[in-house]
Amino acid sequence: MRTATMRLRPGLVVLAFLVVSSGLGTWARAGEPPDPAAVERGRKALLERSFLNAEWSDAAYKTASKYWNEVAPDPESDPEGYARAFATRYGFHPAPFPNDGLPMGLKRGVKADGVTKGMQVDCLVCHGGSIGGQSYVGLPNTQIDYAGFFPDLFRADGHRLPLLPFILNTARGTTNAGMMSIVLMSMRNPDLSIRTFPLAMGSNLPELDAPPWWVLKYKTTMYYDGRTPSASVRSIMQFLLAEKSAAQFRDLEPAFTDIHAYIRSLEAPRYPFPIDAPSAERGRAVFEKSCAECHGTYGRTVDYPNEVVPLDVVGTDPARIEGLSDRSVAHYNETWFAENHPVEIGGERGYQAPPLVGIWASAPYLHNGSVPTLRALLDSPRRPRRYLRPPSTDFEHYDQRDVGWKAVEFPEGGPLPRQPRRLFDASRYGLGNGGHTFGDKLDEAQRTDLIEYLKTL
Ligand code: HEC
Ligand code: HEC
Repeated sequence: MRTATMRLRPGLVVLAFLVVSSGLGTWARAGEPPDPAAVERGRKALLERSFLNAEWSDAAYKTASKYWNEVAPDPESDPEGYARAFATRYGFHPAPFPNDGLPMGLKRGVKADGVTKGMQVDCLVCHGGSIGGQSYVGLPNTQIDYAGFFPDLFRADGHRLPLLPFILNTARGTTNAGMMSIVLMSMRNPDLSIRTFPLAMGSNLPELDAPPWWVLKYKTTMYYDGRTPSASVRSIMQFLLAEKSAAQFRDLEPAFTDIHAYIRSLEAPRYPFPIDAPSAERGRAVFEKSCAECHGTYGRTVDYPNEVVPLDVVGTDPARIEGLSDRSVAHYNETWFAENHPVEIGGERGYQAPPLVGIWASAPYLHNGSVPTLRALLDSPRRPRRYLRPPSTDFEHYDQRDVGWKAVEFPEGGPLPRQPRRLFDASRYGLGNGGHTFGDKLDEAQRTDLIEYLKTL
């Protein structure tokens, strides 16, 4: 099975013509706009319901700071200060909806015993981010540190982190959602009954950057390899494999049909700084000549070709493609999840060229988040091999010229930074920053114009 949707048990003035031609509110080939009533139900289900039992007690939230090796605000006398410190420590963002004092990505609920109050992560731990002090549902979380958060919360509850056969994340902002799915699926039979011994799946997926949700509506196939129909609701329910039975999955499908509609209703935020309109207009011509064939055209309507580009053409890190075994896909295809929308098996593999709507907001780039800015993406020799992820998503760390995150290059062989997972090291498995050299042949003026144009999408 392929995917990713899991968790473990466990501006200023933008000239009018640019706004008009920006693609706002337009639809590509991937079907009609979702029904507004379903969108509203989906929004409520996603933001208000907790679909899994609580994993950690309320007490664990308040005592996690004892593992920080730094002075933390007192959770009783200064709950807001503590909440801010907790969010900064682990990479959560303020919830832009009522969330009972918790950041976006955590939900209050009840433990499996039906009485003990606690909390759990939800979809927004990976799919809820912020930029310039504003939180957005569907913006990838570029700060989340699973490998810090998970062990601390389990320890605070007096448990050890369950033994995991894969790396959660080596860098902030990437998560191994794919392996979480694979491991949970390996513990089920095709009828979704629990197995005594897990199936050997032979997959080794790397940590990944989450895609922005607002592009789903343009796509006919989804996930980085474009092998799953984007209409598959069941595929985004895989994280519930942590506890649900086959019957419970059927009961929850209508709620996830609504969540799917809500995801397809989301719009990308607009670029908030001035745009040089003549430069952007020149950039449009560069884009249409060098990029549109794979990424589509953006005007009053978005014409998105849904291209899956063979690995040897795009040349980006192969681990996400090669690390998914046919056996895993075949097993997924035997289950209820694939009944209506099986994952394609066999044939040439590659990465789907994503729609570029809202691309200014979703740095770092590529499926593994290995490239901090658009300029580096369009000029491959400039890409840093080792860089520090910014300490926050505030605009002081945002680069308007190169578009993306200001990345501090980190010397080879130097001592690890105080927060080691702020370091993104492209030499690690799955994190390679090569390939996608389609911008290399441009001259610097063309590249600058092209980047200006990309701000308008
Ligand atoms: C642990 C992090 C994580 C959690 C939790 C998570 N996702 Fe994802 N999601 C990802 C990653 C990473 C991908 C990309 C996976 C890939 O293509 O291999 C993804 C892909 C997706 C996509 C496909 C987007 C596209 O354009 O291809 C959808 C839709 C999605 N997730 C929905 C959800 C929903 C709904 C939930 C909660 C039920 C959820 N995800 C929970 C990390 C996560
Ligand atoms: C031959 C097809 C092809 C061409 C031509 C192409 N791209 Fe891409 N592009 C891709 C693919 C495939 C990916 C995804 C690669 C990955 O994630 O590993 C991608 C990724 C990207 C991304 C990162 C998206 C994200 O969400 O992280 C941006 C930005 C981008 N391309 C911009 C451009 C621009 C600008 C041009 C023109 C200079 C261009 N591309 C030309 C195929 C193409």
